[in-house]
Amino acid sequence: MKLNIALLPGDGIGPDVVEQAVKSLQAVADAFGHTFHFEEALVGAVAIDKTGDPLPEETLEVCRRSHAVLFGAIGDPKYDNDPKAKVRPEQGLLKLRKSLGLFTNIRPVKAYPTLIEKSPLKKEIISGTDFTIYRELTGGIYFGEKKLSENGTVASDLCEYSEAEIERIAHLAFKAARSRRNKLTLVDKANVLETSRLWRRVVTAIGKSYPDVELDFLFVDNAAMQIILNPGQFDVILTENMFGDIISDEGSVIGGSIGLLASASVGSDNAMFEPIHGSYPQAKGKDIANPVASILSAAMLLEHFNLKEEAEAVKNAVEKSLEKGVVTPDLDKDSKFGTNKVGDFIADFILHAEDTTQVNKENIE
Ligand code: IPM
Ligand code: MN
Repeated sequence: MKLNIALLPGDGIGPDVVEQAVKSLQAVADAFGHTFHFEEALVGAVAIDKTGDPLPEETLEVCRRSHAVLFGAIGDPKYDNDPKAKVRPEQGLLKLRKSLGLFTNIRPVKAYPTLIEKSPLKKEIISGTDFTIYRELTGGIYFGEKKLSENGTVASDLCEYSEAEIERIAHLAFKAARSRRNKLTLVDKANVLETSRLWRRVVTAIGKSYPDVELDFLFVDNAAMQIILNPGQFDVILTENMFGDIISDEGSVIGGSIGLLASASVGSDNAMFEPIHGSYPQAKGKDIANPVASILSAAMLLEHFNLKEEAEAVKNAVEKSLEKGVVTPDLDKDSKFGTNKVGDFIADFILHAEDTTQVNKENIE
């Protein structure tokens, strides 16, 4: 298969981790006889620095002419504490999601047996956790009208959803549940918000076409509690934009590091793959960032194009690295391995999986 992949490394550790994901994709191309063509473009604070725009038109064009986008991270502290900043790096990511129509964000949460001790949560609680969050990504409070009164003392952000916006992601979430353990949980705040009541009505109606999927509802405050009390109860969680943002960071604690969580953002014509972690600017270029979330995002890219065996090869290689302790310091503070070594190990394992004896800790030290 020939794929054109746009690379948007972005800010902070984005470039560090995207480089490792590219190594894995290149290894897949070599091992399975595919051709992946990569084209890099600017986004975020680096794009503002070079062009004044967090999402230059040229970047959008590169994304549009590619089959998929591999995204790094976005954000720079110099914009975070400046309430008057007119342009912000995050606007680049939001505009990209909107312009490419990426309305569904898929975030798998898993407790890896080999990392079970790394989580701050008790292992009896998280053991066996395996759920996926379907987060709506192009609507809700993120994109509603924003207002600030003239004297700057009153502000508002509108949260708005239409039936059509809810329907299209709900179908994808029901289908996902069908291919998993047949359970879908809608997370909302229907006891308070009108938009949440609309979500319940639309999702309940759609549920009638998926009688084999058990549908239940949780208020988001309770969901936040249940995710760390009893994460094993979840299969697919469906939720709106901001709730999904919040509970997916919470979910990352289960796996032991936010550096492990991958995501896919899909729409009708395009797809983008990105780690859920932020730009972690303190670690930029220090060879300590965990590349696994980015590499697993590349695996989701392969799955998206139905390259199942290839995606499995990447995931197996990642699991092998975790098993062998070839991990970055976020997972083992005494680790001797950095971003690059972990990336090399995984790429190497993809290429030589049949001979695991060649790939061991000693060889890459
Ligand atoms: C995420 C991030 C983004 C979001 C930010 C960077 C705008 O936190 O992808 O979860 O809030 O969606
Ligand atoms: Mn987030």
